[in-house]
Amino acid sequence: MFETSIIEINKSALDANLKFIRKQIGNRKLSCVVKGNAYGHGMEEYVPIAEQLGVNHFAVYSADEAERIHSIKHPKTEIMIMGSVDDAALAWAIENGIECWMFELDRLEKAIELAVNLDKKALIHIELETGMNRTGFKAKNLDKAAELILKNSNRVEIVGICTHFAGAESISNYYRIKDQIEVYNQLVAHLNELNIRAKYYHTCCSAASLRFPEMMLDMVRIGILQFGFWPSQETFIEFTRNQNTKTDPLKRLITWKSAVMSIKEVNSGDYIGYGTSFLAQRDMTIGICPVGYSHGFSRSLGNQGRAVVNGTRVSVIGTVNMNCIALDLSEVSAEKGDEVLLIGSDGKAEITVASFSEFSNQLNYELLTRLPLNIPRIVTHN
Ligand SMILES: Cc1ncc(COP(=O)(O)O)c(C=O)c1O
Repeated sequence: MFETSIIEINKSALDANLKFIRKQIGNRKLSCVVKGNAYGHGMEEYVPIAEQLGVNHFAVYSADEAERIHSIKHPKTEIMIMGSVDDAALAWAIENGIECWMFELDRLEKAIELAVNLDKKALIHIELETGMNRTGFKAKNLDKAAELILKNSNRVEIVGICTHFAGAESISNYYRIKDQIEVYNQLVAHLNELNIRAKYYHTCCSAASLRFPEMMLDMVRIGILQFGFWPSQETFIEFTRNQNTKTDPLKRLITWKSAVMSIKEVNSGDYIGYGTSFLAQRDMTIGICPVGYSHGFSRSLGNQGRAVVNGTRVSVIGTVNMNCIALDLSEVSAEKGDEVLLIGSDGKAEITVASFSEFSNQLNYELLTRLPLNIPRIVTHN
């Protein structure tokens, strides 16, 4: 292999996670959020296996992500852009039946103008500003938006009316979200009075679906759960406590693997790697693994990170280099070419993304989405 590491994506784990999610959401519409290169799992690999398991709606942030899915998806699969589309991309989206969130009047006006020019209908979700203060129509602009939509009803289809909560994964945001729910309900009632109705009302990401199930409404936008991760430790503990179990029902899809590139003996008293951050206290065997911070292995894992080699957890020693790390193989019998697990389990020992991100202070989300595009992704079936 030319690449220095590969990422495996396990389809059976996805199957289990989707079953878990569907049990939680009942027969509501499931939109799988696959922005950030499907949370690092690889959009082109992930979307087809999710489709095979019955997913037919994907949410992304930007038009470039939508384009990547559009070129590989099943003709009936729907795509929703929740964030960025410039005018050219908006025309492309309308032409291709891609749903777009509308959160400003000028964007809505442009969508209508383009729909007229293209002789198509713009498929829109009206995003409401309920307190996150990111994107979304404020109450004061809603009447004007409603007027525009009603005037051009043959050019606009309101697929959704939605909002996003500002951090449902943390109990510290509980009252802020409760306030958002109140605002959402008021604004929806106002829109309904103006005769604006949608096919789907939606507000919940993974954490909100678990914590505010009454807000799952007609559709949920699930990101992190599908990949087998909890939005936060809090949500995991709360869920398992309520279910009276300690067993994690989710399964991680991802395994990140490399191999030992070189082995060397180091004498007690020698420094290892750049600078003086690691001083060998005894004679040691170290293995060089060709994965570094340019591959998404955070610099903050220097002298902290772990990997699995031949069934044993070993430590990263010294600093993380741009292209490699040194591993302490003193207690493992290992040879050049042996597998190094950076994330995943070999049946005897495991490196979880959570432990990874605790060491490096990175959230699951951040660590996963920083895995570079050019690491090959391979689908496995167990
Ligand atoms: C608007 C919106 N909906 C849903 C999600 C999915 O969130 P999660 O991965 O926590 O399920 C995100 C992700 O940040 C988002 O921005």
